[in-house]
Amino acid sequence: MKFFVDTAEVSEIRSLAEAGLVDGVTTNPSLIAKSGRRMAEVIAEICALTPGPVSAEVTATEYDSMLAEGRYLREIAPNVCVKVPLTEAGLRTCRALSADGTLVNVTLCFSPAQALLAAKSGATFISPFVGRLDDIAYDGMQLIADILKIYRNYPHIKTEVLVASIRHPVHLVEAAKLGAEVATLPPAVIRQLLKHPLTDSGLAAFLADWRKTGQSIL
Ligand code: G3P
Repeated sequence: MKFFVDTAEVSEIRSLAEAGLVDGVTTNPSLIAKSGRRMAEVIAEICALTPGPVSAEVTATEYDSMLAEGRYLREIAPNVCVKVPLTEAGLRTCRALSADGTLVNVTLCFSPAQALLAAKSGATFISPFVGRLDDIAYDGMQLIADILKIYRNYPHIKTEVLVASIRHPVHLVEAAKLGAEVATLPPAVIRQLLKHPLTDSGLAAFLADWRKTGQSIL
């Protein structure tokens, strides 16, 4: 499973990349706004931190403008993945950009039908938002299961399921059990994946016993 980091905070990405935990990055207009930085500048900086796909989302809503924005964004760096919303204009833009060989991440997916349309449009990635569905008492992980089942019925579909809107480690584990290719994780959730109280207590006990020996390895 590929781990993408869902943030536009360069310091967070750099720290996790140094730990070998970054296979790519996803941003969206809200994350860019939160960074307080110019979009092209922060995307360029992020693209230099990882060779993996870096999602940069268009903000236009009409096809011609979306396509122009997408063509601008992809020129920022070779690993830019243009992100488009799952609308008619977004899918039309996806088809045009993917035909040119541009990576495209189709986002704001909330149904299997939407995911099938994104695959038909040549999406590189589909981003179903599990957390936002859970937030309103729908079963976000069932959407992932349904999309994967549909995609696996058609071997010609190469679109990868990029599980997004992840709220906690259980989302990640369940997505991995289902075989989703990618998960995009807030930095805090990545760090939560590491944690287990028995690891901490076990290490403390090992070191306490080791100190009693009076030895040192070096
Ligand atoms: O960036 C796409 C997605 O991960 C956003 O998730 O937390 O805003 O529901 P969230």
